[in-house]
Parts: sequence; structure tokens; C-alpha cells
Amino acid sequence: MAAIKKVLVAGASGYLGRYAVKEFKERGYHVRALVRDPEKIKTLGAHGEPAIQDMIDEIVIGDVTNPESIKGICKGIDIVFSALGLTAPHPEHTSNDVDYLGNKRILDQALNEKVSRFISSVRLK
Ligand SMILES: NC(=O)c1ccc[n+]([C@@H]2O[C@H](COP(=O)([O-])OP(=O)(O)OC[C@H]3O[C@@H](n4cnc5c(N)ncnc54)[C@H](OP(=O)(O)O)[C@@H]3O)[C@@H](O)[C@H]2O)c1
Repeated sequence: MAAIKKVLVAGASGYLGRYAVKEFKERGYHVRALVRDPEKIKTLGAHGEPAIQDMIDEIVIGDVTNPESIKGICKGIDIVFSALGLTAPHPEHTSNDVDYLGNKRILDQALNEKVSRFISSVRLK
């Protein structure tokens, strides 16, 4: 029997991320989710996106602007699907901090861990 594939969904609490979690789970993946606020995923999203708490196998609570909080996040992962990004102005961070540097921090770890595929909803320069 083939081993169950493990996916990391970053930005799992967002619009795109929630649908990605649901789809991966339905396709039989083991889902690790990166979220900042675990409370958020217990309920539907603002536009009716699914509540995903029960679809997640592992949760990592972290913020990509804090490298320590996402250390080791790609360990044992086969695929990364990143839907993280700033979609509204933030008082402290820019899109460069989150969309670019945040995704790059995950990408660098994915490369070290020999993750086979990295999918991002934002274009990395
Ligand atoms: N929606 C679309 O149709 C679409 C199409 C093409 C590209 N995109 C791009 O895809 C990305 C996601 O879009 P979306 O509509 O799903 O946006 P969204 O609902 O605002 O989701 C953004 C996600 O990123 C997370 N995030 C933000 N800052 C973070 C940080 N510092 N550390 C960890 N996570 C952080 C958010 O977490 P919190 O929930 O904690 O805020 C949330 O899970 C955006 O960059 C957007 O431009 C979206």
C-alpha cells in the first residue's frame, strides 16, 4: 500500500487556504496546517468558506514574520501549498514581509527537506 502523502497548507485559515485544506483532505492527504489563530478555523470564513478544524491532522501555530515560530515546518512533508499573503494593509508588515519573505522562509525549508513540490498562490519574484 502506498504511503499517505503529507501536505503543508500555509495560510490555511484564509479563503484559498480553507478550500485547499478541504480538497487535500478529500483526496486522502495528511494535512498539516500553518495558522496564526487556531480559533479562526473552528467556524466558517467570512464568505462561507469551510470550517476546517476537523479536516486537519496537525496544526502549527506560527507567523511567517517570526522565523522561530515556523522552524521545522516542512519536516516529513511531501507537498507545500502556500496560500498565505497580505490581502489588506497591516500596521507592521508589508506584502514583501509576508508574501515574499514569508513564502521564501517556507520555500528554503522545503528545499532543505527535499519536498517534491511547492505551490504558491503568489508569484515569488
Ligand atoms: N482569493 C483568490 O482568488 C486569489 C487568487 C490569486 C491569488 N491570490 C493570492 O493568494 C493569497 C491568499 O488569498 P486569500 O484570498 O485566500 O487571502 P486571505 O483570505 O486574506 O488569506 C491569507 C492567509 O494568509 C495568512 N497570513 C497572513 N499573514 C500571515 C503571517 N504573517 N503569517 C502566517 N500567515 C499569514 C492569513 O492568516 P490569518 O487568517 O491569521 O489572517 C490567511 O490564512 C493572497 O496573496 C492573494 O493575493 C488569491
